[in-house]
Amino acid sequence: MQITLKIQRYNPDTDDAPYYQEYTVEVDPNARLLDALMDVKRFQDGSLGFRKSCAHGVCGSDAMRINGQDGLACKTLVKEVAEEDGATVVVEPLRYLPVQRDLIVDQAEFFEKYKSIKPYLINDQPVAEKERIQSPEERLQFDDTTNCILCASCYSACPIPEEHPAFIGPAAIAQAFRFLADSRDKGEEQRLPVLDDADGVWLCENHFKCTQACPRSILITKRINQTKRMIKEGKGDK
Ligand code: SF4
Ligand code: FES
Repeated sequence: MQITLKIQRYNPDTDDAPYYQEYTVEVDPNARLLDALMDVKRFQDGSLGFRKSCAHGVCGSDAMRINGQDGLACKTLVKEVAEEDGATVVVEPLRYLPVQRDLIVDQAEFFEKYKSIKPYLINDQPVAEKERIQSPEERLQFDDTTNCILCASCYSACPIPEEHPAFIGPAAIAQAFRFLADSRDKGEEQRLPVLDDADGVWLCENHFKCTQACPRSILITKRINQTKRMIKEGKGDK
């Protein structure tokens, strides 16, 4: 089939403002959108900027907005976003993060917020002889959240930063939950104040956009609500 990719272009060094450029591509409906972008880059316009690495939904580097929905280009089939021959697919960079070039955004702010919740196991107690034992049931409490690839699709999909740019965002909260719900972790005193802050969990209004966007099927909204409950109950979910 033939599709038109309407891609947002912007080079902050040379352009006054973002603009759209269209490319017509012959592509198999079962190909991935990333294949269509690669086709443009290889055969039509080598100046097109986008990020990708694994091409298999693992590295999280090719998150972008596709027809207004956030997701990974390598996990989006052309037929999912182009209903018929001749369709136009609009491709834009993730929202809320500064564009470095075209579809490439500067993720620094996203990672700063992620780091603020201390995304690592905190436990000063002596290590058991072999390991810190955890039952399968305890692991299940947070298992989905361990699949995060930090793609920032949820961050861009969330409507809250439109009004509150400082909102910590869904990914950071889901990763905070990942450790707060871990029976081996003791870091609630460090994490809960960050989450209970004016820019933290209470800004979430349960729009579920993050959950819908997540390419790893993480139950983000549910995890955010569980985190709210943990704060209300003064922790003690373990
Ligand atoms: S929670 Fe899902 S959408 Fe958000 S950064 Fe992680 S993998 Fe991406
Ligand atoms: S290129 Fe790695 S997740 Fe898409």
